[in-house]
Amino acid sequence: MLTDSENDIQMSLDEFIMIRDFIHEKSGIYFAENKMYLVKNRLIKRMAELGIKNIRDYFYHVKYDVSLKEFNQLMNLVTTNETSFFRNEPQLLSFSEEVLPLLVKEKLVAGESKTLKIWSAGCSSGEEPYTLAIILLEKMILMPGWNLEILANDISESVLQRARNGEYSGITLRNVAPAILNRYFTKVGEMYRINPEAKSLVKFFHMNLNEGRRMNMMTGVDVIFFRNVMIYFSDEVKKQIIRGFYNSLKPGGFLYIGHSETLHGLSKAFRLVYFKNALVYRKEIQKAEKEIVHTTVFSGTAASTAGAAGGAKRAMDLLNKIKPMSTVNK
Ligand SMILES: C[S@@+](CC[C@H](N)C(=O)[O-])C[C@H]1O[C@@H](n2cnc3c(N)ncnc32)[C@H](O)[C@@H]1O
Repeated sequence: MLTDSENDIQMSLDEFIMIRDFIHEKSGIYFAENKMYLVKNRLIKRMAELGIKNIRDYFYHVKYDVSLKEFNQLMNLVTTNETSFFRNEPQLLSFSEEVLPLLVKEKLVAGESKTLKIWSAGCSSGEEPYTLAIILLEKMILMPGWNLEILANDISESVLQRARNGEYSGITLRNVAPAILNRYFTKVGEMYRINPEAKSLVKFFHMNLNEGRRMNMMTGVDVIFFRNVMIYFSDEVKKQIIRGFYNSLKPGGFLYIGHSETLHGLSKAFRLVYFKNALVYRKEIQKAEKEIVHTTVFSGTAASTAGAAGGAKRAMDLLNKIKPMSTVNK
């Protein structure tokens, strides 16, 4: 039920376009004209709280608030934060059973440091990064002594607050197996609190994916989860963000997008890898880099050319054994 002051608030098409374009420019989130009433309905409660009666005044209030406080409020209102633990099991199976062992083996073969950096981009209230933390902990036996890090960002402060709080109940837990619930959560009243072991793997931070400067600072990432986020962006913004992810990933790094989403028409930079459980995008390991890695790891001394060739061959044989079943260029 709307209050009288909320009922008083009107929005013309011009006003909608003005605020819609502002939201798009800043966040990348795009509302088509048929979403005008949705936008209005999301804004009017906040406007009534502020005692602002028309959209134009609210627009100037957000635009000229240098503290960005109102912009952050606006982002809390216009984002769609639907998520759940263990969302899309086939993708997660491909991560735990195929991608993770492959990355671990490749890093060991290449003599790289035992670190894995995973990024949940658009993490909402934390279910996705905590799911990844649980998967990593379950796989820890494969990775003794590894340094694991999960970065998780969102544009909405209110969902990040819930994520940092780490307490959940109801439908979001529907796909969590009872044994996992027992091992990784503590029941506190009606809520399930994520245990410190999983919590400590995740670093939450506020970041707008539409800010190139911040995106450029994200480097050396092994796997990016960017699932169910880009549906809200215009194509132009999708392309720019995917380009940013490409630069953030290490060669050989993987990109997961929502299972019904595609990079078709957005990027040709990635290779689509057909794993048994899901399709995953991969940044190519450059041929030159492959050769450098193999000769330095397996060559013994620089003078021993025959040894180097033998070492590189052994590395290639090993890599071939663990190559995915089939791949195709996108
Ligand atoms: C539908 S949720 C997806 C959550 C999770 N990735 C999943 O698949 O369950 C989309 C999230 O993307 C966030 N988001 C939207 N635009 C963003 C932006 N420009 N920068 C960072 N996060 C954004 C929203 O706040 C929301 O929490």
